[in-house]
Amino acid sequence: MSITRSVVRGCGSYLPARTLTNHELAGMVDTSDEWIVQRTGIRERHIAAAGEYTSDMAVHAAQGALAAAGLAPQDIDLIVLATATPDNTFPASAVAVQAKLGITSGAAFDLQAVCSGFVFALSTADSMLRAGDFKRALVIGSETFSRILDWKDRTTCVIFGDGAGAVVLEAQPQSGTKADRGVLGAKLRSDGRYKDKLYVDGGPSTTGTAGYLRMEGKEVFRHAVGMMTGAITDVLDATGTTAAEIDWFVPHQANQRIIDGCAHKLGVPSEKVISTVARHGNTSAASIPLALDTAVADGRIKPGDLVMIEAMGGGFTWGAALIRW
Ligand SMILES: CC(C)(COP(=O)(O)OP(=O)(O)OC[C@H]1O[C@@H](n2cnc3c(N)ncnc32)[C@H](O)[C@@H]1OP(=O)(O)O)[C@@H](O)C(=O)NCCC(=O)NCCS
Repeated sequence: MSITRSVVRGCGSYLPARTLTNHELAGMVDTSDEWIVQRTGIRERHIAAAGEYTSDMAVHAAQGALAAAGLAPQDIDLIVLATATPDNTFPASAVAVQAKLGITSGAAFDLQAVCSGFVFALSTADSMLRAGDFKRALVIGSETFSRILDWKDRTTCVIFGDGAGAVVLEAQPQSGTKADRGVLGAKLRSDGRYKDKLYVDGGPSTTGTAGYLRMEGKEVFRHAVGMMTGAITDVLDATGTTAAEIDWFVPHQANQRIIDGCAHKLGVPSEKVISTVARHGNTSAASIPLALDTAVADGRIKPGDLVMIEAMGGGFTWGAALIRW
């Protein structure tokens, strides 16, 4: 039986030139390198330059993904940009990306699921490709969280960073088995009862300002491992796969302790876990495609490998997806 799958043709990423180390942060707020490393695993993060926007970073990542795929911008008919930090309240930053890439056909829109954004965007694009209305999608995560951080709040400003990552998905006929390449399954969840645990205290409809990120870190931590491993288990069950078959576990890069907790609960050995949190910090929707591109570039993730991605973020939103690279 032939079915349509969304196959990854290439990936790319972008980090702003400026790095901000824990030692520099210790000169800005009452914190220390030791505290940040011990609690989060983060050592440095990248910060967008003045005048460098979410759409600019998304374009760099998209160009890398197109080059890796051997495709031109005109080959793309769908752009789904996951971001919680758009250039403007509207239009969608995805249309800025579309215009900067010189694409004049197809559809482009933003998707807002905060740190789970890339998993939500990948699953959304996958559904649209499998439905047959689109042929090739750019799925991008791009964030300038530095612009919504309260740089006087040590409980949040040490955690987040800026960056972008992208993949090109292409609708291809496959056999319908789990040996296929492409997105094999995904599970998305949200529970708005937790919407005040991780949020931004502004917005166009409330304060008329962009606002600043606020977080009950302990509450986020308490739910993270259970929620994410629950979604992963659902994806494994739905695809008839076991955790032992996973070649690479590419989690949202929020915190090394959460990453380790998820891997341990699933029984995935640390050699199979891709971690970039030490150098990138938490780049929200960009963290997974940044980690994917890092592991593809250094030769760890290869065509045919089974890759599990997962994320959890504000909302709460959470989810997982299984991809044969
Ligand atoms: C944020 C996080 C690292 C804080 O660690 P924690 O062990 O929960 O720490 P607490 O919030 O209990 O704070 C412990 C102490 O450290 C202090 N502290 C907080 N941030 C600090 C910092 N950057 N530097 C030094 N001390 C800090 C607190 O004020 C508190 O001091 P007190 O005991 O005198 O009141 C942790 O809760 C976490 O990782 N949560 C998940 C966050 C996350 O991943 N969010 C994104 C999800 S997408």
